[in-house]
Amino acid sequence: MLAPTLDAGLIRLDFPILKEQVNGRELVYLDSAATSQKPTAVIEAISAYYTHANANVHRGVHVLGERATEIFEGARESVARLVGADPRGVVFVRNTTEGINLVAQAYARERFGPQDRIVCTEMEHHSNLVPWQRVREQTGCQLEFIPVTPDGRLDAEATVRLLQAPTRLLAVTHVSNVLGTINPVEELIRQAHGEGIRVLIDGAQAVPHMPVDLAQLDPDFYAFSAHKMCGPTGIGVLYGRPELLDEMPPFLTGGSMISVVTLEKTTWDEIPHKFEAGTPDIGGAAGLRAAVDYLEKVGIPSVFRHGVELTEYADEMLSEVPGLTRYGPQGPDQLGIVSFNLEGVHPHDVGTIVDRAGVAIRAGHHCCQPLMRRLSVSATARASFYLYNTRDDVDALVAALFEANRIFGS
Ligand code: ALA
Repeated sequence: MLAPTLDAGLIRLDFPILKEQVNGRELVYLDSAATSQKPTAVIEAISAYYTHANANVHRGVHVLGERATEIFEGARESVARLVGADPRGVVFVRNTTEGINLVAQAYARERFGPQDRIVCTEMEHHSNLVPWQRVREQTGCQLEFIPVTPDGRLDAEATVRLLQAPTRLLAVTHVSNVLGTINPVEELIRQAHGEGIRVLIDGAQAVPHMPVDLAQLDPDFYAFSAHKMCGPTGIGVLYGRPELLDEMPPFLTGGSMISVVTLEKTTWDEIPHKFEAGTPDIGGAAGLRAAVDYLEKVGIPSVFRHGVELTEYADEMLSEVPGLTRYGPQGPDQLGIVSFNLEGVHPHDVGTIVDRAGVAIRAGHHCCQPLMRRLSVSATARASFYLYNTRDDVDALVAALFEANRIFGS
């Protein structure tokens, strides 16, 4: 059954930044894959935390300490509910990158050697690639990559070949931050688990945009960031299967993650606290909790439907622009992100010209240099959509691209 449509015109009213003027024009924000804008509810939740509840967590015997702890642990419960996870498996980190580094160092580095293989893909963001190169340097393990096909999908034959011994871990993105490809992670996890292979999913571009049910997907690790889902920067989530987190040593050590400390030896706190050394981002957790509430109120299935419909509309309109090459799949396995180039115009020039019309897009390698090489380009322009974007925003982009063509004489 189709989810109800959302009214992006009404939703825009919740995002004060969308009233900003940019270069004398109304802002058209098409860079939500880099970071999303924040609704008033999130901005106010952060302000309310610092105004009424600021204290450290898990320590104070005073009222503010209890309020702060309730907000922080409440955020964990909210996130767990959103993604269908056991709260004991929800570790607060700074961002997706830190979550993946935690797994690389506290899981892979601890267990793997030259006889083991990690499998990644050519479409990974550097944050799900460089940590595995580091583990290779540290352990001597092998690292191989599932190639990307010309239409921006994972090569199925290579996937089957690589998802077997000596592979011990598959690290793959749920949704590509460049191509918008929705990878078949449920099938990949099933295949990997059938061969005894652990799976880490980079969910940074998925959780904000589509229903994600970890109880059903059953990954071993799953990472995402608050700032791409209407929440603040500085806080993210690593979900880990509780029994694995229990077995793993800590990533960072110090205060808040201990049970008993003597001068000789320290024992660790229970999970997830074992992985949360030092004072956490409590204000960020307040904002994240409000972001989850906000997205649940709008309805993630409706956000998903809106993203798909807007992307379809963008594909239709962009096909009218002379000299435009689109990268990635254009169909039901593509979500909210369109990468393209204009013939004879460098993507940075495209970005600058559309910015003059108030349209914010990203241009560059998008932290995916190997994928750029696979696409035989040095960079692309990228427009990315979210729940507050409308068809008018797409039309503004397309008009600005015609202007870029006019300036460059194409
Ligand atoms: N990962 C973010 C992007 O794709 C920064 O733009």
